[in-house]
Amino acid sequence: MSQQNREQREQWGSRAGFLMAAIGSAVGLGNIWRFPAEAYKNGGGAFLLPYLVALLTAGLPLLILEYTVGRKYRKSPPAAFRQISRPAEAIGWWQVAICFVIASYYAVIVAWAVRYAGFSFGKDWGDDPEGFFGGDFLHAAAEPGLPSSFVGNVFWPLLAVWLIVLAILAMGVRRGIERANKIFIPALVLFFVVLVVRAVTLDGAAKGLDALFAPDWSALTDGSVWVAAYGQIFFSLSIGFGIMVTYASYLGRRADLTGSALVAGFANSSFEILAGIGVFATLGFMAQSSGAAVGDVVSEGVGLAFIAFPAVISQMPLGAAFGVVFFVSLAIAGLSSLISIVQVVISAVQDRTGMRRVPAVWTVGGLLAVVSLALFPTDAGLSLLDAADHFINQYGIALAALVFLIVMAWVLRRLRTFQAHADETSAVRLGTWWRVCLGVITPLVLGWMMIDSFRKELDENYAGYPLSFLAWAGWGVAAGALLVGVLISLIPWRGAPGGGETEGTADSEEVR
Ligand code: ALA
Repeated sequence: MSQQNREQREQWGSRAGFLMAAIGSAVGLGNIWRFPAEAYKNGGGAFLLPYLVALLTAGLPLLILEYTVGRKYRKSPPAAFRQISRPAEAIGWWQVAICFVIASYYAVIVAWAVRYAGFSFGKDWGDDPEGFFGGDFLHAAAEPGLPSSFVGNVFWPLLAVWLIVLAILAMGVRRGIERANKIFIPALVLFFVVLVVRAVTLDGAAKGLDALFAPDWSALTDGSVWVAAYGQIFFSLSIGFGIMVTYASYLGRRADLTGSALVAGFANSSFEILAGIGVFATLGFMAQSSGAAVGDVVSEGVGLAFIAFPAVISQMPLGAAFGVVFFVSLAIAGLSSLISIVQVVISAVQDRTGMRRVPAVWTVGGLLAVVSLALFPTDAGLSLLDAADHFINQYGIALAALVFLIVMAWVLRRLRTFQAHADETSAVRLGTWWRVCLGVITPLVLGWMMIDSFRKELDENYAGYPLSFLAWAGWGVAAGALLVGVLISLIPWRGAPGGGETEGTADSEEVR
């Protein structure tokens, strides 16, 4: 039996604490910069329909399944899946490897946000935010390739981000993660409300909102719009990474699973819609003041936050304050998601080796920080980040979720057992619809997503380069995560797997 299990697994202090952490994990960069652009590109207001369908048929059912597996086995994904069936452990390590990759670059975007909060005071990007971002700030190489020089502008904030994340994780689930999220989430809500109120009162805001919400109903007949909605829900709800299994493994045996999933899922979507309103109202202002159409000023991801927003901040009254609040919100949202991603890796290693939390955090988390610091604050950082993000999302998260569902629903046929387990302690009981969503609808949509994006990949080649350096790097990262996952799962365990407790220990203070 491992040291950690002899010591009893940590637990969340309260249901509110668990919910804050789960919402903190879900609300991240995906809500702020991914959702608005996805909605705009895929039918505007009409996108909300496939989005809602994806939330109800895939997002919430999978979130409930992940909570159930985590709480039932009270272990991180590899150890939990191993208890379900020995070979399934490989899926757990695959998810851990995916989290390792995502954490290594997600931290970098948080570091950029921290730095840009500082730049906002003096609007340091001047009148060329694009040139400033790629040139003065990132010193990005003209051609993608291997890193050849360090960029101090990114290195130091990135080091600070890693120290903060590891310090919070070293404090533990209740004293570290839960306490941090109890500060982060209310702060994020407050900042968001300030941002959105300011944004919707700008000149031209209505023009932006009109562009976002004007429904293009014909988009609903386009399959790729539905695929985009499912993709958005997966990334945004943090499902398929092993995060929610890990967080739920610290729940008490009587915790309400379904109710918590509903609260976390709807809170995440509310944030997402609010972010869409804030971002498009701001872009409407930009379009109006530059005499352009909203479509011409929309960008996504890196371009939206670090190029379009600085341009708006320069033009608006009280822009500096708006910039600070925007970038601090981005940093907080990213930080709380990053903590959850790194926790998957730490918790898996702890369950596997019996290591105590603090040494596990500083060795495993330290290794992760070193990889992140060695690769991304460099002249090649931007292109490496872009490639890793694209390939690990498409052929990591979504593919691992598809394999997980097929194994649980069709190979091991465990959905009924999990349904009974969730129903034992949940206020809302699951019905046949839950098994149909997980066993039929979601695997079909994910399978279709996989084929569709693979076909596009081969047609277009990533970034337009035939088998470019970046395409090789991206495929290498995605395939490497799978290979590493399988190889780790083949290493024989010494002693009982994870202590051999399937239902956890009875605790005096239960989180309901
Ligand atoms: N769910 C997190 C996000 O939206 C990963 O960024």
